[in-house]
Amino acid sequence: MNDLIVLYLYAAAALFFALGLKLMSEVKTARYGNWSAIVGMVISILATLTAFEIHRVDLLVLAVIVGTIVGTPIALKVPMTAVPQRTAMSHAFGSLAVALVGAAEYYHDAPNVDPFTMAVLSGEMILGFLTFTGSSVAFLKLQALIPGRPFVYPGRVVVSLVNLGLAIAFAVYLVLNPSHSFALPALAALSLLFGFLLVMAIGGADMPTVIAILNSFAGMSAAGLGFVLDNKILIVAGSLDGSSGLVLAIIMSRAMNRSFINILFGAVGGAKEVDAKEVEAHRTVQGYSVDDAATVLSNARKVVFAPGYGMATSQSQHVLKELADVLQARGIDVKYAIHPVAGRMPGHMNVLLAEANVPYDQLYEMERINPLFPETDVAVVVGANDVTNPAARTKPGSPLYGMPILDVDKAKTVIFIKRSLGAGFSGVENELFYNENTMMVFGDAKQVLTELIAALKTK
Ligand code: TAP
Repeated sequence: MNDLIVLYLYAAAALFFALGLKLMSEVKTARYGNWSAIVGMVISILATLTAFEIHRVDLLVLAVIVGTIVGTPIALKVPMTAVPQRTAMSHAFGSLAVALVGAAEYYHDAPNVDPFTMAVLSGEMILGFLTFTGSSVAFLKLQALIPGRPFVYPGRVVVSLVNLGLAIAFAVYLVLNPSHSFALPALAALSLLFGFLLVMAIGGADMPTVIAILNSFAGMSAAGLGFVLDNKILIVAGSLDGSSGLVLAIIMSRAMNRSFINILFGAVGGAKEVDAKEVEAHRTVQGYSVDDAATVLSNARKVVFAPGYGMATSQSQHVLKELADVLQARGIDVKYAIHPVAGRMPGHMNVLLAEANVPYDQLYEMERINPLFPETDVAVVVGANDVTNPAARTKPGSPLYGMPILDVDKAKTVIFIKRSLGAGFSGVENELFYNENTMMVFGDAKQVLTELIAALKTK
């Protein structure tokens, strides 16, 4: 009877997880999606607690207390811009837990582990351990604790593949000889090394995609462990996590026009950082005052805002919405152009603009907004850079080449709001700053937008 109740509870939790994913696919319903997933997780935990006889309640309570003490401040204090690295840490610890439980399960049962169980255990441990080191390196790169550049050396792809091949060889050896436990630490060490080498060789700009791929690995390893432990909710939740991470990684790599192989082994992002002063010295740039920008905006009929990472760091989404209101009150048409990888995580701009109560019908995805730029009077780029860089269209060999961009350069006038001529995340210089129809308005986005609103009120 108890088993049946647990099964029903697991089924209910699985439904809440699936519903959560569905709701999260739309900006309007994303918050409910989060709640649905939380409810699913609470049900799963309660059902698991009732499914087993718990021998050490004290350890369980201690784990809950420690987890709450560590997790609550992280959840409350980590800024939105640091969510990718926070997510990387979650994957690191989640996958380490999965790999360690797998190892414990092996030592508990060895040598009586059947080949199927050993194969699944080995696979989930390889994925779990490599995800742990890979995600930890991703965290360090995104948090700028180590350089974001790809760490490249001759023959690195071969070294990585041999490393992975050896880990798999030890896994096969364990399947054939489950009593030879020495192979497990070797498998673990090689998997840890593979994850480390893999992500060290990937550039910082690719980190969000890598995190989605690692998310998928973490989910798959959890699903594998679910088979070993015969825990149905772990299989379902792990599979959902694994497949949604994979779909997300596919969406992101498509948005950057890159293949998985190119992201994992292409070592993109090593471009030399642009020295803004050096560029300024031999190029001319049209620097304008806020008042000039206000005049141009007041004469426009159609305005498109193109927000990017700088809007997130300056937290200027509310002021941007205020500026939109001022323009709309003057009868000017305002739209927001959303590039799928603007910012540092999927849906970054959608989340921020939703927080500022921007109406959803004013948000235009890249495919919808690009044909409208030629008839746009002013494109206002707010702290975006790479996602507007025409090098993506014109410069073969550039790390950005092939990435679809927002065609802001096709608008009659482009106003760039950023603090300097510095490059974006990819480190690639943006030719657009020097175009004749570009007005550079230097400054912090929030401050410039606030001043723009004030200046517009005098026009
Ligand atoms: P970036 O190319 O990184 O450019 C952001 C710009 O914002 C910078 O050039 C910076 O210039 C400016 N900025 C920073 N702080 C500012 C502030 N307080 N006020 C005004 N401007 C400020 O950002 P993007 O255009 O959004 O492109 C995103 C990048 O991340 C792409 O390279 C993309 O491939 C990569 N990426 C994103 C994702 C996801 S899922 N979003 C995934 C993988 C890769 P200044 O320093 O001169 O101010």
